[in-house]
Amino acid sequence: MRGIIIRCPDDMHFHPRTGKMLKNVLLCTSKVFPRGVVMGNLPKPVATTDDAQMYRAEIYCVDPNFSPIMTIMLTKSTTPQIVKEAFGRDVRVLKYIPNNVSTNSEEGVALTELHNFYPVLETAEKLGMIFSGHWESPLDESGAPLPEIDREVHAIPFLQEIVRHFPNLKVVVEHVTTREMIQYVESAPKNVGATLTVHHAILNISNVCDSEGKIRSPDNYCKPIAKGMIDTDAIIRAMTSGNPKFFFGSDSAPHPMSAKEKIPPAAGIFTAPVALPLLCQLFEENDALSRLENFVSRFGAEFYGLPLNEGEITLRKNPWTVPDYLGLVHIFKGGKVLNWRIA
Ligand code: DOR
Ligand code: ZN
Ligand code: ZN
Repeated sequence: MRGIIIRCPDDMHFHPRTGKMLKNVLLCTSKVFPRGVVMGNLPKPVATTDDAQMYRAEIYCVDPNFSPIMTIMLTKSTTPQIVKEAFGRDVRVLKYIPNNVSTNSEEGVALTELHNFYPVLETAEKLGMIFSGHWESPLDESGAPLPEIDREVHAIPFLQEIVRHFPNLKVVVEHVTTREMIQYVESAPKNVGATLTVHHAILNISNVCDSEGKIRSPDNYCKPIAKGMIDTDAIIRAMTSGNPKFFFGSDSAPHPMSAKEKIPPAAGIFTAPVALPLLCQLFEENDALSRLENFVSRFGAEFYGLPLNEGEITLRKNPWTVPDYLGLVHIFKGGKVLNWRIA
């Protein structure tokens, strides 16, 4: 196989940031993905219609041809009225990060407090707004801190409770990293879908931490942290299965070198420049190239109820070396040779 042509893909979860960083990174995504779900965990979170409108305008200034699918964050101040107004202004997603679980999530709502926001979720359910969450619990049942590796599994009961309570709410489980969560999504009703990243299909915990659990490769560090090989296998299996519940969301999350050098380092991996070539390689290795198009260009749009993208993109088998950096941001697989490239 020398090349493939697929419908233009969607990135159903990424972090293009704001200001200078946005100018620097957005085109890496928009050149390949004409549409994407833009996460709003900015230093001042995108939490209202006005915030989303301003952010959309900023994105549009950088690339007027890109179609951002806008989100607002569930914060302690979110009301049903805010959600209603946002949806009326074409904000499709209510984004959930538990407080202090990840980058710029200080204003988020804890898993144990989610029940106080049921009127908000009920409004989202009625409107058909997507509830897209970063499902990690920082604490166990007794309130003791959990190691990062156990946090996703401990969030599953909270997620189950939401799904049970809101049978018509469209729920997205972002960036699944464990076999347990894959199994949960497979067994959940049709209104529950999940995004999968390419880095979680490649990395496992030993690529991130040493045997004592200390982070040894900050460039491979993200949240949720990569898990074991069995988990990576489960992700690849789900990704290449043709199950429409699983679709692509890169979670491309650039941080400048200075933030990656801190202890602990900023969490997030910048994959936008390599995501599609890496997916090609992965699908090819798993005899599933014919399923790539549905995973990146169909299932996400269908889950969201959006028309499929027009246009096509050609991928060729033609080796190239990934640059190490874009500006001050390390690129995933920098310095490595990839077999596939975008024509
Ligand atoms: O690794 C991550 N980086 N996980 C997230 O949930 C947020 C993201 C970021 O914004 O940096
Ligand atoms: Zn996340
Ligand atoms: Zn994310």
